[in-house]
Order: sequence, then structure tokens, then C-alpha cells
Amino acid sequence: MHNIRKIEEDIFWIGASNRIVNRFENMIPLTHGTSYNSYLILDEKTAIIDTVDASVSEVFLANVAHLLQGRELDYLVINHMEPDHCANICNIILRYPNVKLVGNLKTFKFLEQFYDGINAENYYIVKEKDELNLGKHTLRFYFAPLVHWPEVMMCYELNSKTLFSADAFGSFRALDGNLFADETDYHQLFLPEFRRYYANVMGKFGANVQAVFKKIADLEIKCIASLHGPIYRTPEMIEFVMEKYQGWSLYKPERTGVVIAYASMYGNTAQVVQILATKLAEKGIRNINIFDVSNTHFSDIIAKVFECSNLVIATPTYNSGLYLPMQTFIKDLSDLNIANRKISYISNVTWAGNPIKQIRDILTNNKNFEEVGNVFEIKSAMKLTQYDELEKFADDIKQSMIS
Ligand code: FEO
Repeated sequence: MHNIRKIEEDIFWIGASNRIVNRFENMIPLTHGTSYNSYLILDEKTAIIDTVDASVSEVFLANVAHLLQGRELDYLVINHMEPDHCANICNIILRYPNVKLVGNLKTFKFLEQFYDGINAENYYIVKEKDELNLGKHTLRFYFAPLVHWPEVMMCYELNSKTLFSADAFGSFRALDGNLFADETDYHQLFLPEFRRYYANVMGKFGANVQAVFKKIADLEIKCIASLHGPIYRTPEMIEFVMEKYQGWSLYKPERTGVVIAYASMYGNTAQVVQILATKLAEKGIRNINIFDVSNTHFSDIIAKVFECSNLVIATPTYNSGLYLPMQTFIKDLSDLNIANRKISYISNVTWAGNPIKQIRDILTNNKNFEEVGNVFEIKSAMKLTQYDELEKFADDIKQSMIS
């Protein structure tokens, strides 16, 4: 059965939500599900903008059939070739064999890598800023390489001033019927998932996000329609998400606060972290976030790192090296190019190794990671004689927030 919503004159949302798939890219938890958005424009010509994940094919295809009412589908715009959006291209071709597939050279390279048997006569190759006229509506294409994959494009519909932004401005979390951000309790429901999506999906590509911002700077945008999450149609919401993307893509912390990511085998390192948090709280710091790397998916910690100014890493050695969940988290910090953070270290070495040196070696490419305080070292467990030193460690963190 179909399930659609009109978003503008002649423009419809034909996507779907899924609460069964429990990980994005089979890795990042989808605690609250996700939506796969797709759009259909009914004009003199008809066009779909991206398809959906294989898990929601049935409703997507019903939506298309319901809206077309027997009409031809003229164009399928492929803004992104990741399978959570392109999985129904072959289904569309089966039903509408004359459809033109609109993409760039990289789009078709990936299309041929994923799928066999697609006739190249169906290809409609566009270049940067080419326009595709549908009648009253016209799509103009802006290439957005590495926002999130290299072939990504966005398209701007000139009549409604809608930016179909591909993955950009996406959010995890299934839609509860309320498709537009202004219909939702956005800050409670979507902002944390909007941030977690950016941090983990776009986080590495800040420079690419900045490059696209420059291309679209002069566009009047009245609506942002992403491939995941709610649609933004009010000036306030559009300004809000643009500002968030500006800050995150420059790796600017949103606010002062500290993320304490720790590993602890028998509770001794965890106890130092708890004492440190108490000291920080006594010094007036309110935004303190403790994560046990063994019990928290790294994507949740990464999202908090994008929010906060300070990071404390507390870890024991393991097999003379890094504790493995900590190693995963540190590697992700590095891979995502996170920059401009103040970082402090707590180490716990019982018999050998130097975990902090190994962490520093991994983080050498993270720009403007300023170390705060001396490494607070324990051997197996913290001792009474170390309280003053931990007090100083907390003072240094507090001072770094003020400065
Ligand atoms: Fe929603 Fe890059 O896929």
C-alpha cells in the first residue's frame, strides 16, 4: 500500500521509514530506526530523485505507481549511488524501461560496478550546473564529491527553491509521520541523531562540505530535502541546520564541555575517571560526559566529541599495546580528521607499555589537538597521594575551557 506526502506543488515524498534494520552500513547502530527519502516530481515530464533501500522497496514502488497513475517515468535522478538509495534502480527500469537515468560519469561507473545489464542508452549524463527542464520545474545539478561518496550530486529545483541535498543534512531516526522538521519536537528527537549522523557519516569530509557550501552560497533555499530524516522548510530551521553544518565542517566545538572516554578492565581506571568528574563538577563544569568504550558504540562517543571542546582519554595498556575498543575509538578520531580539541590523558600501566605514546602516534594528523595538563599516570590503581595531582589535572582542564 502506498504512503506518500506532498511537500510542494507537484513534488511528493515517496520514501519510507524502517525500524527493523538496526545498523547503518551494518556498523552504526540505528537505535531509533531511519528513513530513506525519495522524491517524485509530477510535471510535463516526471522525475524521481533517488530511490530507497532494498528493505523498503515494496512501499516505494507502490508510491511510484500510485502517483504516476499509468504515466511514463521520464527521469530517475541518481544523486547518490550508495545502496541505501540506489537499491531500486533496477526495479524502476523493469517497470519503466524508457526512463532516463540522470547522473555524472562517476555515477555510471558505480552503477556498472553494482549492477549488470543496464542499457547505457538509458544514461543521461550531466555536468556541473547543467539544468534539466521538466516543465514548470527545473533541476540544476551541483556536484558534491565526498559528501559522502565521490559521485554525489545535489540538485536545486528552481521553481520551488528546493535543494535536494543527497545525504547532506540527513539524520538518523525513523519518521513518525511528521515529515517536516517544524512538525517535530526537533531538538529533543532529531538534533542528537542529526549530529550523530553528521559526525559519523560526513565527519571525515569537512573540507568537501565547505566546498559545496561555497558553490551554493548564492542560492535562495526555501526547502532542504535530504535522503534521510526530516525536511527543512522554515527559514529558522534552514538557518539552524546550515549553521550546524558550518561549524561541524570546520571542526568547531559547539560548546564547552568534556567527553571522558575510558577503558577499564577491573574498575581502577574507571574510578579515577569518576573522581576526576567529581572534581570537574565541583569546579563548575556542567557538560561532563563519561563513556566506557567497552559498553558504548564509538559512534555515540564521536557525536559527543563533535559537540564538546575537551576530551579526556583514560586507558590501561593491553598486551603491551592499546586496549582494543579504545584503539577503535582513537582510530576513528583520526580517520574522521577531527580537529580543534583540547585533549588530556590518563594512563594505567601495571607492568609494561606506553598507551599514551601509541595514541599520540595515531593522532598525529589531527590538527590543533592541544594537550592540556600532564599525563595523569597510575600504576594499577590510584593512590591517596595522587589526589593533589588529580586536582591540578582538573584545574588545567577547567582553565583550558576558560581560555
Ligand atoms: Fe544514505 Fe551515503 O548513504
